[in-house]
Order: sequence, then structure tokens, then C-alpha cells
Amino acid sequence: MHIKEQKELFAQAKQWTLDAGLMIRKNLNKPLSVTTKSNHKDLVTTMDEQVEKFFATNIKQKYPEHQILSEEGFGDQVTNLSGFVWIIDPIDGTMNFVHQKRNFAISLAIYYDNVGYIGIIYDVMADEFYYALKGEGAFKNDVKLPPLAKDIVLSETVLGLNHSWLMDNSFVHEKYMQQLIRKIRGSRTYGSAALQFAYVAEGSIDGYLSMRLAPWDFAAGKILVNEVGGLTTNIYGESLNLLNRSTVFTGNRHIQQTILNDYLKTK
Ligand code: 2AM
Ligand code: CA
Repeated sequence: MHIKEQKELFAQAKQWTLDAGLMIRKNLNKPLSVTTKSNHKDLVTTMDEQVEKFFATNIKQKYPEHQILSEEGFGDQVTNLSGFVWIIDPIDGTMNFVHQKRNFAISLAIYYDNVGYIGIIYDVMADEFYYALKGEGAFKNDVKLPPLAKDIVLSETVLGLNHSWLMDNSFVHEKYMQQLIRKIRGSRTYGSAALQFAYVAEGSIDGYLSMRLAPWDFAAGKILVNEVGGLTTNIYGESLNLLNRSTVFTGNRHIQQTILNDYLKTK
């Protein structure tokens, strides 16, 4: 993708994201219809659907040859990643959106032939706009983010982790989580995968580990973290497939190996 094309696409994606954010903020205190999907923890609201429809309609109109891979079903049945693919989560952190009315994000990525060129993570209520352009760096509200720290030790790290690991029947995750929390300085749970990628990119947490994410949860974040020199893989250190759900580690490359090796030892 040429730099000019990348910049033009980014400008359009940014405008739609800001418009969608405004739509969400305007309607925040109106009555909300919430339904559950796979179980009582898995929520969707009419706002998730409205925002996704807004993106899908605009993209289809302006870029009819582009594919859309998105959470709520208004995109395409994407089975291959050739050409342009927009990967969108209209609201990442829907539970936060419903219960807290904050700490949720719009996550949008544009890939071309399976390579990520544009990543946007927009914290709608804090009005914090994180983005990355492949080869150009990652930014927060237009301020360039520096490369991640090189002199890092596990005992001084803060990691994003999720308590739902404790539900795992095999107890492997529970045991691993106990060991990990003992070794690190602290853990945080923010309830939005995309925001935790953004926090890794800005260095406010050193890593984020999730046992199950969907492509729209990590597609934009992976580009951001990559641009500041971090790594994103599954728990076995392998690269992520954008067509599948997966375990995900993203973070500082200097702690990745220890964290992943400890998992393999626990198993
Ligand atoms: P969502 O709010 O867009 O559904 C919460 O820990 C984070 O994980 C959120 O980013 C949430 O995205 C995501 N998440 C929750 N349940 C998930 C599942 N079953 N598969 C993939 N991602 C999930
Ligand atoms: Ca979502």
C-alpha cells in the first residue's frame, strides 16, 4: 500500500470513528436495549449494532470492493484475507458500556493482503484517540508514542489479566495465574481488550494476556503494539490468525519469553 493511499484511508477511517464516538456519547443516557448472546456475560446492545451498521454502510458505499470482518454480523462472511479487509469491533468492552458507561472503545483496523496498515483504538468517553500507521509509528492524540522500555524485569511489570481464567475446569490456568501474579508487580483488569492493547503501546501496562479473543478484539491493537516494538502472539508464541479466535499475549518482547515458558511448564 502506498503511503498516500494509507494516509487517505486513515483520514476517512478516523473521521468515521470520531463520528461514531459522537453518536455513542449523544445517546449514552437514552434507554438501552441489552440482550445476551452466548451466555449471561456476553452482551450486545442496539448501540453496538447501530455503530457497526454505520461503519458497514459507509465502507460499502465508498469502498465496495473492500471486505468487512466485524463482530455483530453486518459485515461480510470473510474466509480469506486478500485485498483490503476492515476489521471492526463497534464497541469493545460492551459490559463496561452497559454497566459503567465508560472504559469501552471502538477498534478498527485495515489490513491489505493479511498485513496490518492502519490501527485505530478510540476510547470514546475519555476522548483518547490511539492510532498506528505501519512504518510511521503509533500515536495517542497525535503525540508519537516512544519505543517500549528495554530494561524491564518481570518483578517490576504490571500486566492486564482477566479473572475469567479462574473458571477453567482443568485448573491449569488457575495455577498459572497464581504463579504469574506472585512474580509480577501487579495485575489490572480493564474489561476491554482493545484498550489494554493501547495501554501496552503507551507503556502504562507491560503486557496483556487473554485466553480467548476474537480477531476484532486484537486486529488494531496488534498494529499499535508492533509500531512501538512490542510483540503479539498466541500463548505458544505463534503469530495470530486473523480469521480465528485465539489465546493472546501482547507486550514487551523482553518479558514475553518468560511469561510464555512459564505457561508451558505449568501444563
Ligand atoms: P467485547 O466487549 O467486544 O465482547 C473482556 O475481557 C474483553 O474480551 C472484551 O474486549 C470483550 O470484547 C472480549 N471478549 C469477551 N468474551 C469474549 C469471547 N467469548 N471471545 C472473544 N472475546 C471476548
Ligand atoms: Ca464488541
